Amino acid sequence: MTRRPFIAGNWKMHLDRRSIADFCASIKDADLPGDVTVGVFPPFVYLAETVDALAGTGVVVGAQTCRPEEKGAFTGEVAAVQVKDVGATHVIVGHSERRHVMGETDADVRARLDAALGCGLDVVLCLGETLDERKAERTSDVVLGQLAAGTKGLDGETLASRVTLAYEPVWAIGTGLTATPEQAQEVHALVRGRLAEDFGDGVAQRVVVQYGGSVKPANVADLMSCPDVDGALVGGASLAWDSFSALIAFERQEAPQ
Ligand code: 13P
Repeated sequence: MTRRPFIAGNWKMHLDRRSIADFCASIKDADLPGDVTVGVFPPFVYLAETVDALAGTGVVVGAQTCRPEEKGAFTGEVAAVQVKDVGATHVIVGHSERRHVMGETDADVRARLDAALGCGLDVVLCLGETLDERKAERTSDVVLGQLAAGTKGLDGETLASRVTLAYEPVWAIGTGLTATPEQAQEVHALVRGRLAEDFGDGVAQRVVVQYGGSVKPANVADLMSCPDVDGALVGGASLAWDSFSALIAFERQEAPQ
């Protein structure tokens, strides 16, 4: 089963109006590979203009989180339906910065996922262990626990066609410490194995699982050569067109020996 690779930039709280306009102009000029899904997740204030700027390019544009309620007194928050309303197609839920900095629980993450799917957005669900959890050999418990909380009871077709998983070990995010391809593959295979148990092998083989954590042009080919790594969710190296375009072109890069 060949899964379509999905390479996405999570811009977090970076970039400004001018640099995003320049970035979008570069995307429009680029000869994007036809066999890779490319996505960007800008800060909320630039979401609508990024959607407009990239219209017709095929590039996926999404939000970095959402609020599950449709409307209400939630000062500073943005509802999934509002993300959908400006033309975005995707939303990230459960990013480790939301879990650990903003204190989102598995239940909060699930509420966001359900709201997003419910209003027609596709979802990138992030999973990942902290360094302490890895050292305590709790990686599989943590990741499979987050997976269960995020996917239990979903319809298999919805999962396969509208949910992307992103394994992002917290210790590898923004630290320059990338998981080795072996470490990434081990967890990706674990996740796919659990999906097969819960949803059947047909569904498990279709779910795209991205890796995230210090992905850069120098290591992307090596990571992407792992059988269960289907894409990348990229922070730092997605902020400049030079490096992001090199990531998108991962297939044409030589994996370091
Ligand atoms: P870095 O690529 O900067 O490590 O960030 C990864 C990430 O958190 C993407 O969501």
